[in-house]
Order: sequence, then structure tokens, then C-alpha cells
Amino acid sequence: MALISSLCIFVLVAHFSTPIVCHKRPHQAALFVFGDSIFDPGNNKYINPNTSSQGNNNFPYGESFFKYPTGRASDGRLIPDFIAEYANLPLIPPYFEIGKEHFIHGVNFASGGSGCLAETNRGTVIDLKTQLKLFQNVTQLLKNKVTEIESKQILSNAVYIFSTANNDFLFPLLANLTSPYSDTEYLHMVMGNLTSVLKGIYKEGGRKFVMFNLGPLGCIPSIRALNLQKGVTNGSCMEEATNKAKMFNSALPRMFKQLEKQLPGFKYTIFNSFKVFADSIHNPTKYGFKISKTACCGTGPFRGILSCGGTMQLMALISSLFHLCIFVLVAHFATPIVCHKRPHQAALFVFGDSIFDPGNNNYINTTASFQANYLPYGESFFKYPTGRASNGRLIPDFIAEYANFPLIPPYFQIGKKHFDHGVNFASAGSGCLAETARGFVIDLQTQLKYFQNVAQLLKMKVGKTETKQILSSAVYIFSTGSNEVFAPLSANSTFPYSDTEYLQMIMGNLTTVLKGVYKEGGRKFVMLNLGPLGCVPSVRALNLQKGVTNGSCMEEVTNIAKMFNSALPKMLKHLEKQLPGFKYTVFNTFKVLAESIDNPTKFGFKLSETACCGTGPFRGIFSCGGKRQVKEYELCKNVKDYLFFDSVHPTELAYQQLAELLWNGTPAVVAPHNLKSFFDLST
Ligand SMILES: *[C@@H]1O[C@H](CO)[C@@H](O)[C@H](O)[C@H]1NC(C)=O
Ligand SMILES: *[C@@H]1O[C@H](CO)[C@@H](O)[C@H](O)[C@H]1NC(C)=O
Ligand SMILES: *[C@@H]1O[C@H](CO)[C@@H](O)[C@H](O)[C@H]1NC(C)=O
Ligand SMILES: *[C@@H]1O[C@H](CO)[C@@H](O)[C@H](O)[C@H]1NC(C)=O
Ligand SMILES: *[C@@H]1O[C@H](CO)[C@@H](O)[C@H](O)[C@H]1NC(C)=O
Ligand SMILES: *[C@@H]1O[C@H](CO)[C@@H](O)[C@H](O)[C@H]1NC(C)=O
Ligand SMILES: *[C@@H]1O[C@H](CO)[C@@H](O)[C@H](O)[C@H]1NC(C)=O
Ligand SMILES: *[C@@H]1O[C@H](CO)[C@@H](O)[C@H](O)[C@H]1NC(C)=O
Ligand SMILES: *[C@@H]1O[C@H](CO)[C@@H](O)[C@H](O)[C@H]1NC(C)=O
Repeated sequence: MALISSLCIFVLVAHFSTPIVCHKRPHQAALFVFGDSIFDPGNNKYINPNTSSQGNNNFPYGESFFKYPTGRASDGRLIPDFIAEYANLPLIPPYFEIGKEHFIHGVNFASGGSGCLAETNRGTVIDLKTQLKLFQNVTQLLKNKVTEIESKQILSNAVYIFSTANNDFLFPLLANLTSPYSDTEYLHMVMGNLTSVLKGIYKEGGRKFVMFNLGPLGCIPSIRALNLQKGVTNGSCMEEATNKAKMFNSALPRMFKQLEKQLPGFKYTIFNSFKVFADSIHNPTKYGFKISKTACCGTGPFRGILSCGGTMQLMALISSLFHLCIFVLVAHFATPIVCHKRPHQAALFVFGDSIFDPGNNNYINTTASFQANYLPYGESFFKYPTGRASNGRLIPDFIAEYANFPLIPPYFQIGKKHFDHGVNFASAGSGCLAETARGFVIDLQTQLKYFQNVAQLLKMKVGKTETKQILSSAVYIFSTGSNEVFAPLSANSTFPYSDTEYLQMIMGNLTTVLKGVYKEGGRKFVMLNLGPLGCVPSVRALNLQKGVTNGSCMEEVTNIAKMFNSALPKMLKHLEKQLPGFKYTVFNTFKVLAESIDNPTKFGFKLSETACCGTGPFRGIFSCGGKRQVKEYELCKNVKDYLFFDSVHPTELAYQQLAELLWNGTPAVVAPHNLKSFFDLST
């Protein structure tokens, strides 16, 4: 199942000449997003790493929805994320994540802390003019991808949404700058620069503009705190800040009306943020809030000091609505800063193949055959392709949820810090042997090396003693071996090993890796055994091609999986004897999947033989997404009916069922411990 490889694909293509229908999504207008932190989905992660605008990359940012800090300055989604959902678009990606392809539904250029003026937080943000330049780069990419006419049509249908200017007014105030400009001059400059950016987009073909006006800036917690510091002790809003917002808001529609006259086809609409926010602030209960003066995260009066996440250092950071504040204030409010600490929990380290890979293969030099970072992968849950080979979450994602962790990040995304709850090293297409898809995947030995790197980082961060404790209470979960079972199928010549020799090599190499983790301090190991691999759609299709026309599973493949499954507990028992404190549990993937395949309706599925996404018989040709050797693919209408998402990988729903049993199941499926009790097991 873990196969993401050339398996049978090439072979099959030639043989099935049925006309191939590609599923086309309905045409929709794209959404291009500009502005500040109200809209920034993580662009600032990719600019100068020294700037304080990096703080949103830390918990608790992101904790409510994404479960990891994406760079959004909130606990979850931002306005453009909801708009994308309502418009039935995937999440609009940050500019720095689009690569050369992923911009067809739009791009988000917003940068926390930015304003219309280049001076506003200069050097630490992407100002609006630069955002325009990045947009021009995207229009160029678009022209290279589709025809000039088509790109013109896409750009003129698209919606361009702006949240900007907050920081132009907040920056001088918070940085305590004496402005050389009068209020009117300053407003003119802001409007002038905004106008030239709008015109720049118009020139590229943009026609439909949406503008958020400014909220009551004087009422955000950091400005209330500033007001208090200035001696206004009743906790009221700072009128002068709100007045600047009002001036901007009254100039805004005039400017737009003028552009409408000047530029043929120019259309706009303005959202009255001021009215909506002012009303929520004055009548929080009407909107279901209890508190509108004090922030959820921060410190000092109104939690108005922007310390959320504990990493703000520079006063250069002035970002916007509802989360801004400045470092100078820290000096004035000497209240001790109390950090919210999460309860200690055992970490989760994940190893293996595509069953577990959350996107590591996005970062290596490989081919689309070993990747799933394009739609429709990811469409059901993440709404964008993360690299997971399914329509949504994988087993480790559910386990993280049940264990009350954030999502466990792929190794290549942890940087130097984000590994407190564990790391996922899994790589699609990999197996226990270095030969398996050599050069295209991260094999298990290399995954062990990466784990050793993390152990080293951990020692540097928390010291030797604490590291030892973290590593010994952590859970190490493995899904590997499937790709070794598939490998002989795609080998051209006769396979050089006997089944027994091959199995010994696999077990030998797996053992070495388990011992390597043990040596670093790992004690608690979870193994998934192999499913009935002869029954995955791609192998059924291969069987059909070989002349078995009744659509049955390929017994010989399932038999090798069974051999592996019977050798596995023996190997683990042996290690248990050899290595003091070594503990393990085995999840019977085989049993659970075989039952679902035989009785799909019992598990809520309609189809267990045919994949949702792919082409040919059983949609068994591994073409989902159209980026591999075979470009044609069909996508089912209702993914909830299917056990398999693509030709080899289960759907999110199937993974969820497996994860629930792994977490909570009886010894019939997971023994000697289910994961819930295994996490609590002391070492
Ligand atoms: C970041 O800051 C460090 C120390 O202050 C400095 O050595 C480094 O050059 C800075 N990097 C960038 C990209 O500005
Ligand atoms: C925009 O495109 C130009 C030329 O195509 C390139 O040199 C530049 O690096 C791009 N800018 C960014 C920030 O990607
Ligand atoms: C702001 O600047 C004024 C005059 O330049 C100074 O008196 C005041 O102390 C400054 N306030 C802060 C908080 O630094
Ligand atoms: C844009 O802002 C700059 C200051 O950053 C100012 O000098 C310039 O006049 C403004 N441009 C317009 C068209 O108002
Ligand atoms: C708070 O105090 C300021 C000046 O000190 C005053 O203008 C304002 O009306 C007061 N607000 C309330 C709600 O008492
Ligand atoms: C990636 O692989 C391709 C083909 O195997 C090769 O031409 C290229 O140089 C590799 N790039 C890197 C960065 O290793
Ligand atoms: C299998 O053999 C064919 C023809 O001999 C060759 O083109 C192809 O690259 C081989 N495939 C693999 C996976 O070795
Ligand atoms: C590991 O696999 C290699 C082939 O990749 C094999 O030569 C070696 O003997 C195996 N190691 C063990 C300990 O079985
Ligand atoms: C399908 O055919 C194979 C051999 O052609 C046979 O072994 C198997 O029992 C058949 N299965 C079913 C379900 O008819």
C-alpha cells in the first residue's frame, strides 16, 4: 500500500486503451490577497528570519484550527481562509509556497506589519509595492502556463482583496515617532501609494477590487494599554488613533469612485470593518464574546503587550489589528510575564512510508511518482496538497489529535525548534532496504540518521538529562515493509532473492534501525503490520492484466505480506529479550483492512475494490493528480464511499477507522497494548 512507485504503471498503460476521462473542476474566479497580518497566511516566515514579525510561527498561534503555527497571527483561520471555503476554493497559498504551479486559484501576498508606505516597518515586511511586484511575477508564470488570452480572462475575473494601511497609522504611534508630516499630508501619501498599487493590478488585468476599511484602531488591546501608560486610567480607547482610521475610511470611497471614473471596467466594493468591529467591541455578548477589551494571549494590562508565543523581541514589529503592541511597553509594565505551559506529554516520532509521510518527499529530489503534493491530494481536509498520499489526514495525524498534540511536523519543516511533540521522518516509497526506490526516497537508515540529528538538537535545547527522559517516554511508530513487497512486481528481470532470503534482509535491516533508535534512548515501539497488499487496486489491475479476469486479489503478493507479518512479532520478542526496557506493540493492519475489503458496507464504504482517484480497471493505474507517467485520471464524486483514495492508498475515512482502532482497540487488533495505554506506559 505504501507503494508510490513505478509499480505496474508503465506496464498497464500500454494495455488499457479505454478512453480516459479527466475530471475537471468547475471554473471559478481566483482570489488574490494583499495586505497586512489580518490576511498574512505565513509569508513573513520566508523573509529576513531575524525580524520580529516571525513570532506567529510559534504556539499558541494556530492552535485552534491548524494545530500548528502556520504564520497566521491568530489562533486559527483568517478571513481569506473562510472566503476560500465559502467560494469553494482550496486555501489560497502564501506567495512563497506556490512554486511554479500552485497559483491557479489565487495567491496570497499579504505580509504582517506591512502598510501602504515603504517606510512602515521597512526592512522587516513586504510592503504593498513589493506585493505588487510579486503579483506581476505570478501573472508572468500564469502567462507561461496558459495562453495569453486565458490568463487575461483569469485575471479579469479574479477578485483582489486588500487589508492594508492599519500599520501606516499604528507604526508612528507605537514607535513614538514624531511625524514630519501633517495628518493630511500623511493621509495623502498613504492614499497615493495605495492608488498606484491598485492601478498596477488594473494594468495587469485586475478589475474586481475588495477593500477592508480600518477598524477602530484606538480600541485594540495594545493601544488601550498605550493609552493607560499615557495616563488615561479608565481603560478607554485612544481617540486619536481611531480618528486616523476614520479619516482614512472617509477618504477611501472617494479614491475608489475616482478610479472607477478613470479606469474602464474598474469595479470595487468596500467592507465596513469599522462598523462591525466597533459594534463587537461595544456589544461583545451580542456576538457571542465575553471579552472585547482584553486579548486572549499577551501580557500586561489588556494583555496588550505583544508577547504572545513568547518570542517577540524587537520593537520593529508592529503588526496589526487585535495583536499589536510594542516592546517599549514591556519596560513600563513590570508585571512578571507568565507563560502558558502545556501539560507534559510523551512525544511521537514517526518512521516509514507513504502511509505516514506528511510531506517529507516535497523536500527531496524525487519525481511526482513519489509525491502527492498536488491536487486532488489533500482536498477533503487540508484543502491544499500537503504531500500526504490521501484526500486528507493520515494515521499519525489522528493519533496526534487523540493524544492532544499538534500535528507532528515533517522532518524538513522543524527548523531548529519545532520538535517538542515529535517529528515525522516518513518518506513515501521507502522501505527497510536501501535498494527500495533508491535515489527517490529517504530510506529507513537515513530516517534513523535524521532522528539522531533531532536527538542532538534536543540535547542542545534542553540538556542531556531531560533529553533522555523525553526520548524514553516517547512513542516510536513505524509503517514500513509494504514497498519491499511491491518491489519484485515492478522489477523487470527475475528477482535476485528467494522469499526467505529477502525476508531475512528486510527483518535484519528493520532490526538495525530499531536498535539505533533504542541506542538513542527510545523504548516504546509501535509497528503496523502489512495489509493484504494483493488487494490494493493497482495490484488487482495487474492481476487482471495477467489474465485473472475475475478481479480477485493477487494471492502471491498477499502471501509475502503474511510472511512478513508472521516474522514481525518473533523479531520484536527477540529484541524484547535482548534489550532491557524495550517495549512494543503491534497493530494488525492486515486483519482490519481485510475485513473492510471483504465487508465494505459494515465499515460505511460502498466500494473497496476500486480507488476514488486513478484510471483504468479499478482505477488501478497510479495516475491520480495527473502528474506522473500517466496524465489521465478520474476522480470519484463521493470520496466517502471509497476505502481506497488512489490506486494504493486508503482514504482519510479509512485511515481514521484504522487510527481509532490503533488508539482504542482491543487486543484482537492491537496487542499487547493499544496506543492510548502505550502512551501512558512508564519506562
Ligand atoms: C541576524 O542576526 C544575527 C545576530 O544579530 C546576525 O549575525 C545575522 O547576520 C542576521 N541575519 C540577517 C539575515 O540579517
Ligand atoms: C520575480 O521575478 C523576477 C524575474 O522573473 C525574479 O528575478 C525575481 O527573483 C522574482 N521575485 C521574487 C521575489 O520571486
Ligand atoms: C515618546 O517621545 C516623547 C518625546 O519625543 C518622550 O517624551 C516620551 O517619553 C516617549 N515615550 C515613550 C513611551 O518612549
Ligand atoms: C508614496 O509614499 C512615499 C513615501 O513612502 C511618498 O514620498 C510618495 O509621494 C507617495 N506616492 C504617492 C503617489 O503619493
Ligand atoms: C476616560 O478618560 C478620558 C480622559 O481621561 C475621557 O475623555 C473619557 O471620556 C473617559 N472615558 C470613560 C468611559 O470614562
Ligand atoms: C535531481 O535529480 C535530477 C535527475 O535525477 C538531476 O538531474 C538533478 O541534478 C538533481 N538535482 C539535485 C539538486 O540533486
Ligand atoms: C524494464 O525494461 C524496459 C525494456 O527493457 C525498460 O525500458 C525499462 O526502463 C525497465 N524498467 C525498469 C523499472 O527497470
Ligand atoms: C540490510 O540489507 C542489505 C541490502 O540492502 C543486506 O545486504 C544486508 O545484509 C542487510 N542487513 C542485515 C543486518 O540483514
Ligand atoms: C478468480 O480466479 C482465480 C484464478 O483464475 C481463482 O484462483 C480464484 O478462486 C477466482 N476467484 C473468484 C472470487 O472467483
